[in-house]
Amino acid sequence: MTKILVIHGPNLNLLGKREVDVYGNITIDQINNKLLSLAKKRKVKLDIFQSNHEGEIVDVIGKAKNIYASLLINPAAYTHTSVAIRDAISATDIPAVEVHLSNIYSREDFRHSSLIAPVAKGQISGFGVESYIYGLEAAINLAKK
Ligand code: DQA
Repeated sequence: MTKILVIHGPNLNLLGKREVDVYGNITIDQINNKLLSLAKKRKVKLDIFQSNHEGEIVDVIGKAKNIYASLLINPAAYTHTSVAIRDAISATDIPAVEVHLSNIYSREDFRHSSLIAPVAKGQISGFGVESYIYGLEAAINLAKK
């Protein structure tokens, strides 16, 4: 079965309790359940990983080659800072979809640039949990190409 890797970056474990005015009340478990149910309908398998540690995310991406057909990633704050995660995606050459709950372009200036976007197939930002759903649809299409 086609496998897709889902990665949630730092502080996304706190969703539901964290800046609810920006990110809403949804928890990471609720997001994951929505993703898993869509994956089931589309007959793909998801492995889901969350970490607050850049190196752990780099390690997981680095081991993904020949296992996963595509990658769905919310790099969270590392979006704006991590050359290491960008290089890991580039090195594995697995098609990646970058997602954000909030619209990063309508927020503080430092969130307007993504180091990940140039190595992703595309980016979806600003639709809350739907960003993940649209992102997974895109990741499934990329995986089946
Ligand atoms: C985020 C946006 C980032 O700027 C922020 O650091 C996050 C979450 C989002 O999903 O909207 O942690 O990636």
